[in-house]
Amino acid sequence: KKRKTILDIRKMKQDGCKISVLTAYDYPLARIMDEAGIDLILVGDSVATVVSGHDTTLPVTLDEMIYHTRAVVRGSQQALVVADLPFLSYQVDLRDARLSAGRLVKEGGAHAVKLEGGENVAATIAAITAMDVPVMGHIGLTPQSVHRMGGYRVQGRQEEQARQLLADAKAVEDAGAFALVLEGIPRYLARDITQAVSIPTIGIGAGVYCDGQVLVIHDILGLCEKYSPKFIKKYADVSTAIRTGVDSYIREVKEGVFPAAEHSFD
Ligand code: KIV
Ligand code: NA
Repeated sequence: KKRKTILDIRKMKQDGCKISVLTAYDYPLARIMDEAGIDLILVGDSVATVVSGHDTTLPVTLDEMIYHTRAVVRGSQQALVVADLPFLSYQVDLRDARLSAGRLVKEGGAHAVKLEGGENVAATIAAITAMDVPVMGHIGLTPQSVHRMGGYRVQGRQEEQARQLLADAKAVEDAGAFALVLEGIPRYLARDITQAVSIPTIGIGAGVYCDGQVLVIHDILGLCEKYSPKFIKKYADVSTAIRTGVDSYIREVKEGVFPAAEHSFD
Protein backbone atom coordinates (compact mmCIF):
# COMPACT_ATOMS: atom_id res chain seq x y z
CA LYS A 1 0.00 0.00 0.00
CA LYS A 2 1.33 3.39 -0.97
CA ARG A 3 1.82 5.93 1.79
CA LYS A 4 -0.22 9.13 1.62
CA THR A 5 1.63 12.35 0.85
CA ILE A 6 0.93 16.00 1.53
CA LEU A 7 -0.49 16.15 -2.02
CA ASP A 8 -3.12 13.56 -1.10
CA ILE A 9 -4.00 15.49 2.06
CA ARG A 10 -4.32 18.80 0.15
CA LYS A 11 -6.40 17.14 -2.56
CA MET A 12 -8.88 15.85 0.03
CA LYS A 13 -9.96 19.42 0.75
CA GLN A 14 -10.50 20.12 -2.95
CA ASP A 15 -12.52 16.90 -3.26
CA GLY A 16 -14.60 17.69 -0.16
CA CYS A 17 -13.33 14.50 1.48
CA LYS A 18 -12.96 14.82 5.27
CA ILE A 19 -9.49 14.11 6.71
CA SER A 20 -9.16 11.77 9.71
CA VAL A 21 -6.26 12.39 12.09
CA LEU A 22 -5.30 10.80 15.42
CA THR A 23 -2.25 11.11 17.60
CA ALA A 24 0.04 8.14 18.27
CA TYR A 25 3.27 7.85 20.20
CA ASP A 26 4.20 4.18 19.88
CA TYR A 27 4.33 1.20 17.52
CA PRO A 28 1.26 -0.82 18.55
CA LEU A 29 -1.27 2.04 18.46
CA ALA A 30 0.20 3.44 15.26
CA ARG A 31 -0.13 0.04 13.66
CA ILE A 32 -3.77 -0.43 14.65
CA MET A 33 -4.88 3.00 13.43
CA ASP A 34 -2.82 2.71 10.25
CA GLU A 35 -4.47 -0.62 9.41
CA ALA A 36 -7.85 0.98 10.14
CA GLY A 37 -7.07 3.54 7.43
CA ILE A 38 -6.34 6.75 9.34
CA ASP A 39 -5.23 9.45 6.86
CA LEU A 40 -2.62 11.19 8.99
CA ILE A 41 -0.92 10.29 12.27
CA LEU A 42 0.30 13.11 14.49
CA VAL A 43 3.11 12.40 16.91
CA GLY A 44 1.93 15.16 19.21
CA ASP A 45 3.82 16.84 22.00
CA SER A 46 0.68 15.83 23.95
CA VAL A 47 2.85 12.77 24.65
CA ALA A 48 4.12 14.89 27.57
CA THR A 49 0.67 14.90 29.18
CA VAL A 50 -0.97 11.60 28.18
CA VAL A 51 2.11 9.33 28.26
CA SER A 52 4.59 11.03 30.60
CA GLY A 53 2.06 12.48 33.05
CA HIS A 54 3.16 16.12 32.91
CA ASP A 55 0.59 18.91 33.41
CA THR A 56 1.62 20.73 30.21
CA THR A 57 3.28 19.90 26.90
CA LEU A 58 6.26 22.12 27.70
CA PRO A 59 8.70 19.54 29.18
CA VAL A 60 8.99 17.10 26.25
CA THR A 61 12.35 17.28 24.47
CA LEU A 62 13.27 17.05 20.81
CA ASP A 63 15.14 13.78 21.45
CA GLU A 64 12.01 12.32 23.06
CA MET A 65 9.89 13.44 20.09
CA ILE A 66 12.37 11.75 17.73
CA TYR A 67 12.15 8.51 19.73
CA HIS A 68 8.33 8.44 19.58
CA THR A 69 8.31 9.43 15.91
CA ARG A 70 10.57 6.50 14.99
CA ALA A 71 8.20 4.06 16.70
CA VAL A 72 5.16 5.51 14.92
CA VAL A 73 6.85 5.47 11.51
CA ARG A 74 7.81 1.81 12.04
CA GLY A 75 4.21 1.00 12.99
CA SER A 76 2.62 2.63 9.95
CA GLN A 77 2.59 1.96 6.23
CA GLN A 78 -0.10 4.11 4.64
CA ALA A 79 -0.61 7.18 6.84
CA LEU A 80 1.30 10.44 6.55
CA VAL A 81 3.28 10.92 9.78
CA VAL A 82 3.59 14.46 11.14
CA ALA A 83 5.73 15.15 14.23
CA ASP A 84 5.34 18.09 16.61
CA LEU A 85 8.24 20.45 17.13
CA PRO A 86 8.35 20.71 20.94
CA PHE A 87 8.60 23.91 22.97
CA LEU A 88 11.99 25.62 22.71
CA SER A 89 13.03 23.65 19.61
CA TYR A 90 11.98 26.37 17.12
CA GLN A 91 11.27 29.62 18.99
CA VAL A 92 14.79 30.96 19.62
CA ASP A 93 16.02 31.42 16.07
CA LEU A 94 15.58 30.11 12.53
CA ARG A 95 18.74 28.04 12.61
CA ASP A 96 17.44 26.15 15.64
CA ALA A 97 14.08 25.70 13.95
CA ARG A 98 15.62 24.27 10.77
CA LEU A 99 17.90 21.94 12.70
CA SER A 100 15.04 20.68 14.87
CA ALA A 101 12.72 20.12 11.91
CA GLY A 102 15.52 18.40 10.01
CA ARG A 103 16.21 16.06 12.93
CA LEU A 104 12.54 15.02 13.17
CA VAL A 105 12.73 14.05 9.49
CA LYS A 106 16.26 12.61 9.35
CA GLU A 107 16.39 10.80 12.71
CA GLY A 108 12.68 10.39 13.41
CA GLY A 109 11.55 9.56 9.88
CA ALA A 110 8.69 12.09 9.99
CA HIS A 111 7.18 13.17 6.67
CA ALA A 112 6.28 16.63 7.95
CA VAL A 113 6.47 18.69 11.14
CA LYS A 114 3.97 20.81 13.06
CA LEU A 115 4.56 23.97 15.04
CA GLU A 116 2.34 26.37 16.95
CA GLY A 117 1.66 30.00 16.11
CA GLY A 118 0.45 32.38 13.39
CA GLU A 119 1.99 35.61 12.09
CA ASN A 120 4.65 35.35 14.80
CA VAL A 121 6.03 32.09 13.30
CA ALA A 122 5.45 32.82 9.59
CA ALA A 123 9.19 33.31 8.97
CA THR A 124 9.89 30.03 10.78
CA ILE A 125 7.38 28.13 8.65
CA ALA A 126 8.91 29.66 5.50
CA ALA A 127 12.44 28.75 6.61
CA ILE A 128 11.52 25.11 7.25
CA THR A 129 9.48 24.69 4.05
CA ALA A 130 12.42 26.23 2.16
CA MET A 131 14.47 23.15 3.11
CA ASP A 132 11.67 20.96 1.72
CA VAL A 133 10.29 19.83 5.06
CA PRO A 134 6.49 20.23 4.86
CA VAL A 135 4.98 22.17 7.75
CA MET A 136 1.57 21.95 9.39
CA GLY A 137 0.44 25.06 11.27
CA HIS A 138 -1.50 25.16 14.55
CA ILE A 139 -3.45 28.18 15.82
CA GLY A 140 -6.13 29.00 18.38
CA LEU A 141 -5.70 27.24 21.71
CA THR A 142 -2.00 26.47 21.36
CA PRO A 143 -0.96 24.42 24.42
CA GLN A 144 2.66 25.63 24.31
CA SER A 145 1.23 29.12 25.06
CA VAL A 146 -0.55 27.94 28.24
CA HIS A 147 1.11 30.55 30.46
CA ARG A 148 0.24 33.45 28.12
CA MET A 149 -3.36 32.22 27.79
CA GLY A 150 -3.70 31.78 31.56
CA GLY A 151 -4.85 28.19 31.15
CA TYR A 152 -6.49 26.06 28.48
CA ARG A 153 -9.36 28.29 27.35
CA VAL A 154 -11.31 28.73 24.13
CA GLN A 155 -9.65 31.37 21.92
CA GLY A 156 -11.17 33.84 19.43
CA ARG A 157 -14.44 34.57 21.19
CA GLN A 158 -13.80 38.34 21.12
CA GLU A 159 -14.02 39.99 17.72
CA GLU A 160 -10.48 41.35 17.76
CA GLN A 161 -9.07 37.90 18.67
CA ALA A 162 -11.14 36.34 15.91
CA ARG A 163 -9.77 38.83 13.36
CA GLN A 164 -6.23 38.06 14.53
CA LEU A 165 -6.81 34.31 14.12
CA LEU A 166 -8.03 34.87 10.55
CA ALA A 167 -4.87 36.88 9.84
CA ASP A 168 -2.80 34.15 11.50
CA ALA A 169 -4.39 31.47 9.30
CA LYS A 170 -3.61 33.45 6.14
CA ALA A 171 -0.05 34.10 7.32
CA VAL A 172 0.47 30.38 7.92
CA GLU A 173 -0.87 29.56 4.46
CA ASP A 174 1.23 32.29 2.79
CA ALA A 175 4.33 31.02 4.60
CA GLY A 176 3.87 27.69 2.83
CA ALA A 177 2.18 25.37 5.33
CA PHE A 178 0.33 22.42 3.74
CA ALA A 179 -2.37 22.18 6.43
CA LEU A 180 -3.50 23.97 9.58
CA VAL A 181 -4.74 22.70 12.94
CA LEU A 182 -7.49 24.84 14.51
CA GLU A 183 -7.74 24.13 18.22
CA GLY A 184 -10.30 25.37 20.77
CA ILE A 185 -12.11 28.05 18.77
CA PRO A 186 -15.83 28.72 18.11
CA ARG A 187 -17.18 26.65 15.23
CA TYR A 188 -18.32 29.60 13.11
CA LEU A 189 -14.86 31.13 13.30
CA ALA A 190 -13.41 27.76 12.26
CA ARG A 191 -15.85 27.75 9.32
CA ASP A 192 -14.77 31.27 8.25
CA ILE A 193 -11.09 30.34 8.48
CA THR A 194 -11.67 27.11 6.57
CA GLN A 195 -13.35 29.10 3.76
CA ALA A 196 -10.65 31.78 3.79
CA VAL A 197 -7.66 29.48 3.23
CA SER A 198 -6.98 26.97 0.46
CA ILE A 199 -5.06 24.54 2.69
CA PRO A 200 -7.01 21.95 4.71
CA THR A 201 -7.98 22.84 8.28
CA ILE A 202 -7.91 20.08 10.88
CA GLY A 203 -10.05 20.85 13.91
CA ILE A 204 -9.89 19.85 17.56
CA GLY A 205 -12.59 21.49 19.64
CA ALA A 206 -13.30 23.61 16.55
CA GLY A 207 -16.57 22.17 15.27
CA VAL A 208 -17.74 20.32 12.20
CA TYR A 209 -16.91 22.85 9.46
CA CYS A 210 -13.20 22.03 9.39
CA ASP A 211 -11.79 19.94 6.53
CA GLY A 212 -10.71 17.24 8.99
CA GLN A 213 -10.67 16.32 12.67
CA VAL A 214 -7.91 15.35 15.09
CA LEU A 215 -8.15 13.91 18.60
CA VAL A 216 -5.69 12.47 21.07
CA ILE A 217 -5.84 8.66 20.91
CA HIS A 218 -5.69 8.24 24.71
CA ASP A 219 -8.75 10.50 25.03
CA ILE A 220 -10.96 8.66 22.52
CA LEU A 221 -10.01 5.27 24.02
CA GLY A 222 -10.62 6.38 27.61
CA LEU A 223 -6.98 5.65 28.45
CA CYS A 224 -6.12 8.92 30.16
CA GLU A 225 -9.03 10.25 32.17
CA LYS A 226 -7.28 13.05 34.04
CA TYR A 227 -9.23 15.74 32.18
CA SER A 228 -12.09 15.37 29.78
CA PRO A 229 -12.98 18.57 27.98
CA LYS A 230 -16.27 18.95 26.14
CA PHE A 231 -14.80 18.38 22.65
CA ILE A 232 -13.67 14.81 23.42
CA LYS A 233 -15.84 11.88 22.40
CA LYS A 234 -14.99 8.54 24.01
CA TYR A 235 -15.21 5.76 21.42
CA ALA A 236 -13.97 2.90 23.62
CA ASP A 237 -13.33 2.12 27.28
CA VAL A 238 -9.83 0.70 27.24
CA SER A 239 -9.11 1.63 30.88
CA THR A 240 -11.82 -0.77 32.02
CA ALA A 241 -10.55 -3.52 29.72
CA ILE A 242 -7.01 -3.10 31.10
CA ARG A 243 -8.22 -3.03 34.71
CA THR A 244 -10.23 -6.22 34.18
CA GLY A 245 -7.24 -7.97 32.61
CA VAL A 246 -4.81 -6.85 35.30
CA ASP A 247 -7.28 -7.81 38.09
CA SER A 248 -7.62 -11.32 36.66
CA TYR A 249 -3.87 -11.72 36.28
CA ILE A 250 -3.21 -10.66 39.88
CA ARG A 251 -5.91 -13.01 41.19
CA GLU A 252 -4.63 -15.99 39.17
CA VAL A 253 -1.04 -15.40 40.29
CA LYS A 254 -2.11 -15.16 43.94
CA GLU A 255 -4.25 -18.30 43.65
CA GLY A 256 -1.60 -20.29 41.81
CA VAL A 257 -3.91 -20.67 38.78
CA PHE A 258 -1.44 -19.00 36.40
CA PRO A 259 0.74 -20.37 34.89
CA ALA A 260 -1.10 -23.56 33.99
CA ALA A 261 0.64 -26.60 32.50
CA GLU A 262 0.05 -25.25 28.97
CA HIS A 263 2.11 -22.14 29.80
CA SER A 264 4.96 -24.22 31.22
CA PHE A 265 7.93 -26.10 29.73
CA ASP A 266 8.66 -29.78 30.39
O1 KIV B 1 -0.01 17.39 20.56
C1 KIV B 1 -1.13 17.16 20.08
O2 KIV B 1 -1.75 16.11 20.36
C2 KIV B 1 -1.70 18.13 19.15
C3 KIV B 1 -3.06 17.97 18.63
C4 KIV B 1 -4.11 17.39 19.42
C5 KIV B 1 -3.47 18.89 17.57
O3 KIV B 1 -1.04 19.07 18.82
NA1 NA C 1 0.84 19.44 19.96
